[in-house]
Amino acid sequence: MRASQLNNMTERSDFDQTLAELGDTTPESVEARFAELHRSFDDRAGGAKNDGSEWHDLVLFWTGRKSGALSKITDNWLKPAPPTLKRAVGQGLNRLKAHVEAVIEEQRERIEALTDNPPAIRNNFDLSLPGIERAIGTRHLIRQTYEELLCIFAAIGFSVVEGPEIETPYYNFEALNIPEHHPARDNMDTFYIEGARTPHLLRTHTSPMQIRTMEKQPPPVRIVVPGKVYRRDNPDATHGYMFHQIEGLAVDTDITFCDFKGTVEYFAREFLGPKTKTRLRPSYFPFTEPSAEVDATCHVCSGSGCRVCKQSGWIELFGAGMVNPAVYGFVKYDPEKLSGFAFGMGVDRLAMMKYGVTEVPLLFQNDARFLKQFP
Ligand code: PHE
Repeated sequence: MRASQLNNMTERSDFDQTLAELGDTTPESVEARFAELHRSFDDRAGGAKNDGSEWHDLVLFWTGRKSGALSKITDNWLKPAPPTLKRAVGQGLNRLKAHVEAVIEEQRERIEALTDNPPAIRNNFDLSLPGIERAIGTRHLIRQTYEELLCIFAAIGFSVVEGPEIETPYYNFEALNIPEHHPARDNMDTFYIEGARTPHLLRTHTSPMQIRTMEKQPPPVRIVVPGKVYRRDNPDATHGYMFHQIEGLAVDTDITFCDFKGTVEYFAREFLGPKTKTRLRPSYFPFTEPSAEVDATCHVCSGSGCRVCKQSGWIELFGAGMVNPAVYGFVKYDPEKLSGFAFGMGVDRLAMMKYGVTEVPLLFQNDARFLKQFP
């Protein structure tokens, strides 16, 4: 603040002189001087309140520790005052000081109220502290495995389709050449939907999507179907009531058993490593003929035998086979002209095998200590 901005009676330099030098010799003139100071402070403060830097200057001018007006008044006016004026100077100074401090504090609170944060937070905010780390989730191991598996098939021209988890017995069984009372239904005992007008059930496999796809589109077909399936198994280390599958189906005019075997070998090498070998064991599914279980050399011991493959050197990958011509009859495909292969793999099983997970429940308990191992 410039001296000229004070009033005529009290100049800035006045604070450097004693009252005697200024000519104040009576309590009355001291009182008048303080009253004037009071007024001039109020004038200045009123104008400075809406200007940050002007306000800052004002605060410094009045309350600066060494050369602020209040300090100087104490040093130059109060301390050397003669006993006759001590009381008047002391009172004037105290009143002025209390007023100046009150106005400054009031303004400080006003500024604070304009900002959103409570003062406690702003004042105690330590920018040098590390921030709070919010954990972002990871994709679940099953999701990761799905993506891996689907990519392997997408790379050779399979497209991904999905279908309903609640199915009719026709799609889940009959159209897949599993008539009622067929023993193949035994291991597919499942959950029926209560109160449905026509029978509905939770699908026991993703194979119904073979039928739904062939019903909808003419050949050629090359699809993979990810999805949940349900079976009335008793939960244990390797079983739950729900698990994940990927169905595969390829149908065209010229698909041979060699295409089937080649696709299986390609898949095993992509999923388990380039040195992986495969073998087919005879099996039975009503909707494939011939049917096979696909085995691969163990990815842990490469076939020499270990705990993972139970010393056999082989691990079971999935069930598969050439599409049974009887199935084409249900979807109005010509069995004379068409051929194809199908497979159905258990995603949970493949994930557990590849990543060394031994207990199915671990996959679904959502325990972060488990999930974090598959970032
Ligand atoms: N759907 C059969 C199962 O869940 C697997 C499978 C699919 C077998 C396609 C052959 C062909 O057990």
